[in-house]
Amino acid sequence: MDTIESVAEIQERTRKLRAEGRSIGFVPTMGFLHAGHRSLMRTARERADQVVVSIFVNPLQFGPTEDLARYPRDPEGDARQCSEEGVDLLFMPASFYLPDHATKVQVERLTTGLCGASRPGHFDGVTTVVARLFGLVHPTFAVFGEKDFQQLAVIRKMVADLAMDLEIVGAPLVRDTDGLALSSRNKYLSPEDRTRALTLHRALFAMRDRLRTDGKGADLEPAKRIGRALLDADRIDYLEIVDADTLAEPTADTRSLRALVAAFFGTTRLIDNVGLDL
Ligand code: PAF
Repeated sequence: MDTIESVAEIQERTRKLRAEGRSIGFVPTMGFLHAGHRSLMRTARERADQVVVSIFVNPLQFGPTEDLARYPRDPEGDARQCSEEGVDLLFMPASFYLPDHATKVQVERLTTGLCGASRPGHFDGVTTVVARLFGLVHPTFAVFGEKDFQQLAVIRKMVADLAMDLEIVGAPLVRDTDGLALSSRNKYLSPEDRTRALTLHRALFAMRDRLRTDGKGADLEPAKRIGRALLDADRIDYLEIVDADTLAEPTADTRSLRALVAAFFGTTRLIDNVGLDL
């Protein structure tokens, strides 16, 4: 595995790979890697000639009151995990944006609800960094986890709207043995808060069970009430059942539903979601 710190070098290396006809599977991350990231790398490894992972804690996607400075980092552990997963190129930029960077990539509508409502500007930061990463890495496809379900939808939309020449692959969320969705932010939880955070997936699964009992087309409110009652959080940011494609309120045209939740345990905000195939 080669570790590359320069934007010019990653762009040159990946351009050459594509010119030689090799496929590139790309996994963008912010580091502090865990089994969830490793499953994204495996998905890329299975399908691509070359796997590129980037590690960059992107300041543009953090709000003024968010945890950029204390975002966990472990460059050596990350490099070891990437190497174990057979990654070919690890891109850890020493400097990422041009000094006079002036471009913002913004996807409308999909970014206004759910996480977008409580984290204004967050998805603009995500799409801006991901667009630049795609320009640097020349991926044939890029893998994103369904854990960040809204992020995945927003990136798919950006790629479609801007006719970017790559495929976006969604990979299933990975849970710990006790059911907690894996996240770099789990590290911030006290043991008590971690136990309470298990109510995230319990609430989602209970909602799914209720909807399975109620059947297609049923009123969604009783399921949401059950979810809210089960959640033992300090604050619920949102708990919603939406159309999985539009992330808006379900309509007669809705093909599948998704339940999504964001809640605070102490000062740590966690998200989780589940598909509601009835
Ligand atoms: O999901 C993440 O870790 C980040 O939002 C991403 C896609 C790497 C962009 O910084």
